[in-house]
Amino acid sequence: MAKYYTEPSRTFSEFLLIPNLTEREHTPDRVNLATPIAKYKRGETPKLSLHIPFSSAVMQAVSDHNMAVALARSGGVSFIFGSQSIEDQADMVRKVKSFKAGFVVSRSNLTPDHTLADVQALKRQTGHSTVAITDDGTPNGELLGIVTSRDYRESRDAPDKPIHSFMTPFASLVCGRSGMTLPEANDLIWERKLNCLPIVDDNQHLEHLVFRKDYDGHKEYPLQLLDANKSYIAGAGINSRDYAERVPALVEAGADILVIDASDGYSEWQRDTIAFVKANFDIPIGAGNVVDREGFLYLVEAGADFVKVGIGGGSICITREQKGIGRGQASALIEVAEARDAYFEETGVYVPICSDGGIVHDYHITLALAMGADFVMMGRYFARFDESPTRKLKVGNNFVKEFWGEGSNRARNWQRYDSGGKENLLFEEGVDSYVPYAGSLQENLDKTLGKIKSTMCNCGATSIEELQRKARITLVSATSLVEGGAHDVMIKDTGLSGE
Ligand code: IMP
Repeated sequence: MAKYYTEPSRTFSEFLLIPNLTEREHTPDRVNLATPIAKYKRGETPKLSLHIPFSSAVMQAVSDHNMAVALARSGGVSFIFGSQSIEDQADMVRKVKSFKAGFVVSRSNLTPDHTLADVQALKRQTGHSTVAITDDGTPNGELLGIVTSRDYRESRDAPDKPIHSFMTPFASLVCGRSGMTLPEANDLIWERKLNCLPIVDDNQHLEHLVFRKDYDGHKEYPLQLLDANKSYIAGAGINSRDYAERVPALVEAGADILVIDASDGYSEWQRDTIAFVKANFDIPIGAGNVVDREGFLYLVEAGADFVKVGIGGGSICITREQKGIGRGQASALIEVAEARDAYFEETGVYVPICSDGGIVHDYHITLALAMGADFVMMGRYFARFDESPTRKLKVGNNFVKEFWGEGSNRARNWQRYDSGGKENLLFEEGVDSYVPYAGSLQENLDKTLGKIKSTMCNCGATSIEELQRKARITLVSATSLVEGGAHDVMIKDTGLSGE
C-alpha cells in the first residue's frame, strides 16, 4: 500500500516570522549574510562561502556571463546554464573568470606593425580607446607599448601610419608587477596620475590592464565574491548525461562550483555524475532537486557538496501539473533542513542546502533562511533585471523581459538541433512567459537585502546561523492572509477621479 503523508504540503506564504526581542546590537548594518555553499567538517572553514545567500537559476533566461559578473560583484553566485553546447558554456565561464574585478584581460591587442586604421577599426568594434600593443598581438604577448586616443590625431594622421611610430613605447610606460592587489594598483594609478596601468610578468608579458575609471566601481562593491586570483567566482550547471565531456571543459575554463540541474535529483544518474566528478576533479558539486529526507541523504552519501531543494515550485514550472510530482516548497525545505541538522549532529559534516524556486516576495527569502536554507536560488527574481540575457520588450504601457523554463520547448530546442533534429521531447515541464522589467540588479538587490536585514533584526539575529537557531515561525490561516495585505481601505492611485 502506498505511504501517505497526511500533513498538507505547504508554501512560504502560509508562514510568518514572530519577532524576538531586538537588542541594541541588532541593527541592519551589523547583519552579516555570509553563508557556506559547500560542505565542511565541524570546526573547519567552509571551502566556499557566499557573501549574500543568493544564487541565480541554471536557466537560459537568467544566468549567462553578464548575470554572473553582476551577481558575483554583489556577493552571490550564478550557475551558468548548461542547456547550450559545451564550448559556449565554457566560453561564458571563461568570460566571467577573465573579468578580474578591476583587472581586465586585454583580448583585442595589436602589433607594432598594424596601422592607425587598424586601431580605429578596433575602437569601433570594441568601444575601447586604449589598445595594448604586444609582439604577436595576443592577450598575453610581450608588451611593447600602449596606444590611446591621445597618441594620434584622427583627422590629420594618415590611416596607414604604423603603430610603432606613434605608440607610447614600453620604456615610457608605468607598469604594475604580477600579483599586485587591486588597492596597490589603484594607489599607483593615483600616485602617477595614470588612466591605465598595464600589469606585466617578469618577462614583460602582459597579464592585465587596470583602468582608473573603474576605481569607483571597486569601492562600490565591498561584498564582491572573488577567488584567490581576484577573479569573480563562477558556477556552472551540468547534466547527468554529457558530464564526462562537459565537466573537464568547465573546470578547464575556471568554474569554481558545479551543480547538477534536474527537476528530480533522487536518481542513480546523479550518484554516477557526482562519483565521476569526485574521482577526477577537486571542485565542489551540488546536486538535486529533492524534497525529502531520503533524497537528501542519498545525494549526501553520493558525495554532494550541497543539496538543492524544491520540485514544482518554480514560477514557470508546470511539473506538478504535468507529472503529479512535487511538494510545497516550505514543507520540503523544513524536512530537508531537519535531515541536514541531524546528519551534522551525527557525522560532524555540514551540508549546505539551497532552497530553489517559488520565491515570490522578498520575505520568502528570509523565511527560507529561517527554515534552514543556507542560500536560495531564484529564476524569476533575476530574470526581471537589465543583466539577464533576455530581450526587454514593451507590452502595452509596460516593459517586460522574456522568461522561459528550462523544461519548455524553447529552452530545449538547442538540444533538439544538437541531436540532429530528433524529436525526443513529448511534453513540456515549463512555460514561456514575460516578467515585469524591474531595472538594475544592484538597486533591486539593495532593497531586498535591506528588507532581509531588517526582518533579521526583528528576529534578534545578525547572522543566518543565528536566525535559523532563534526563528519562531507560525502558520497563517486563510483569513489572516487577507489581514496581511492592505484591507478595508480604498487604495489611492487607482484611477478614481476627484477634485
Ligand atoms: P523561480 O525562482 O520561482 O522562477 O524558480 C526557478 C527554478 O525553477 C529554477 O531554479 C529551477 O529549479 C526551476 N525550473 C526552471 N525551469 C523549469 C521548468 O521548465 N520546469 C520546472 N521547473 C523549472
